Amino acid sequence: MKHVLPFNDGWLFSPRDLAMDIPDSEFAAVTLPHTNKLFPHHNFDNQEYQFISTYRKRFTLPESRQGRRVYIDFDGAMIACDVMLNGRKVGEYEGGFTPFSFDITDYLDERGENVLTVRLDSTERTDIPPYGFVVDYLTFGGIYRDVWLRYVEPCHIVNVFIQTKDVLSSQASLEISALIKNQSPTPQHVRLSSVVRETAEGKAQTYTTPDEVIVPAYGEQQVTISGLWGECRLWSLNNPTLYDAEITLTSKNTVIDRVQERFGFRTARWEKDGSFYLNGQPLKLIGLNRHQTYPYIGAAAPARLQRRDAEIVKYELGCNIVRTSHYPQSPHFLRRCDEIGLLVFEEIPGWQHIGDNDWQGISVRDLEAMIVRDRNHPSIVIWGVRINESQDNEAFYRATNALAHQLDPTRQTGGVRYFQNSQFLEDVFTFNDFSNSVQEPEHQPHLITEFNGHMFPTKTWDQEERLIEHALRHARIQDKQLGMPNVSGAIGWCAFDYNTHQEFGSGDRICYHGVMDIFRLPKYAAYFYESQIAPEQRIVLRAATIWAMGDRSGGGNDPLVIFGNVDEVEIFIGEASFGRYQPDRAEFPHLPHPPFQIRGLNLWVTWGQKMADLRVVGYWKDEAVAEQRIASRGLPHALYLKADDAELLADGSDMTRVVFKVVDAYGNRLPYANAVVSFEIEGPGELIGENPFALMGGQAALYVRAGWQAGEIIVRAKTRGLDEVQAKIATRSP
Ligand code: GAL
Repeated sequence: MKHVLPFNDGWLFSPRDLAMDIPDSEFAAVTLPHTNKLFPHHNFDNQEYQFISTYRKRFTLPESRQGRRVYIDFDGAMIACDVMLNGRKVGEYEGGFTPFSFDITDYLDERGENVLTVRLDSTERTDIPPYGFVVDYLTFGGIYRDVWLRYVEPCHIVNVFIQTKDVLSSQASLEISALIKNQSPTPQHVRLSSVVRETAEGKAQTYTTPDEVIVPAYGEQQVTISGLWGECRLWSLNNPTLYDAEITLTSKNTVIDRVQERFGFRTARWEKDGSFYLNGQPLKLIGLNRHQTYPYIGAAAPARLQRRDAEIVKYELGCNIVRTSHYPQSPHFLRRCDEIGLLVFEEIPGWQHIGDNDWQGISVRDLEAMIVRDRNHPSIVIWGVRINESQDNEAFYRATNALAHQLDPTRQTGGVRYFQNSQFLEDVFTFNDFSNSVQEPEHQPHLITEFNGHMFPTKTWDQEERLIEHALRHARIQDKQLGMPNVSGAIGWCAFDYNTHQEFGSGDRICYHGVMDIFRLPKYAAYFYESQIAPEQRIVLRAATIWAMGDRSGGGNDPLVIFGNVDEVEIFIGEASFGRYQPDRAEFPHLPHPPFQIRGLNLWVTWGQKMADLRVVGYWKDEAVAEQRIASRGLPHALYLKADDAELLADGSDMTRVVFKVVDAYGNRLPYANAVVSFEIEGPGELIGENPFALMGGQAALYVRAGWQAGEIIVRAKTRGLDEVQAKIATRSP
């Protein structure tokens, strides 16, 4: 029978290209996911991750093979590698964003010790996408995703694709198709069956191939089983019902392989009328782009951080779609999108440049790997089959479209470009619109895949006016697209600030294009997105001001901008009420929850007048449901420190974010506090990040990585003039 074991721990790493005979003492012990270098969050150079490194892992087979084949599966390593076992080359892979596997059986020492070596080239190889020209993101280096050891019978399942049909009727059906591989010298007579179960409920149904299927010796065979499910529960944004299919391969009544796949019943289509329909209902798409990189650790974020990013986009930013700009992202991220009901636009690696035939060959291979890996995710609704913002290339893009449709007839294709007079070879015209408005579509259906971005970079410590304008630009575009029936949605650039090359960004190697900063902490633009959340789900009330008299040009706070999903706000300055106000429906007629823009504030707070605290009360259905206060005193009141998680797994790689800020008496961050904060850690964990940290924008974050022991981690933070604070994180054995 098959057995899959995590293979993330016990690795050795050297940032050099080392031969087999170099002793282990030249290496450092590491756990995957791993970055080949830790960085400060900015002001570093991409040259610093561009080197060849060596990963080594010594292991004895954890269990005896018993006739099975043994594979090693890499979820991703940046950007090209040679893999050796016991001094013999097993294989190589070029490309940092897609998974790869090797059958290591013939290289194994089944009883003794094995030495696995990965020679990893993390240079920006111009022969591998996205490189060959400038690129506005960093790829970083390292074996940055999970690795697995997999035992399989010689005849086993390679992959499974589950298609659902007629899901909107009471006669929903399924087609489960598996690719079976036979690595033995005799043809194998097998039978495929599947138990399908609603993940939460447990109603189960079994499907089986009517006849035995013969898989030729050393060959492959596609086997399909289909059947009726009946009434299904749909996967939707608010109720993302998931189903599990346990697919079993039997031979002579013995189970030889078993695979678990999660899927959902749903339809997702763009129609010729220009709209996107989820389960037959029109849905306007509002979303943001996400890069997979993080401060300090590059792309090497463990499952918890990947999952958290999906939660941030859905629950903190209220988006219904995310684009995985510009490459396939972590399986953990996508799984979380399935679980919480967040739609995904996934695309192949690249950035503007199309290389030669070999380069295009890797790109087509990436496309295939992406679709085969991810086509069971209900969250994914479209495949991006062009290199982001590349020029037309008819042969290449006819091929990618055809391949995508062949591998997955259920999903439509898009291909992101920034010009409308482009050959429309896809199903959906996916367009980056940097006009600061919404261009009239020339093709249907039309989806905006980026806007804003470099047109208005904004930092958390920018002057209030700029932060407000940044937020309002997002609000204006989303408002406008919501009012255009021929635009199916808009995905803004972008969710989080990200590290980039010197040709882009603010010179410090950050593109400050996020609605959140690189630590995933909000700018006012994040409040705009958050304010579109339905009030039934969560009340949002966020005044976009630091409440200072002289920060804006000319002084004052006019207009006072507030993002919220309440019906009305009442403004108090000190004890006095200055009246109730409604959202600005005149400027934003299409948003569910327009910003409040309260003008005439200079009548209340003028030069020379004594400042008083701001108090905003939000009313929903005539009831006061939320309140925000901002201190007029404006001085540091406390140091704030909070870990996102109270508990981590003691597996050597689990991590949580620890946020710190300097705040006023009501907990609002002080954006111009650039205090130096220093940290100490105690217990079975490690701090990842800059320590001490000079705050930028009054807020930042570090990460805590769990060690191997169960216990308690205490992080202490201090800064001059404020009380020391601490955060506790328990670690428990996995
Ligand atoms: C786009 C590009 C993105 C990012 C963005 C910045 O042209 O597709 O990757 O660079 O500009 O606004």
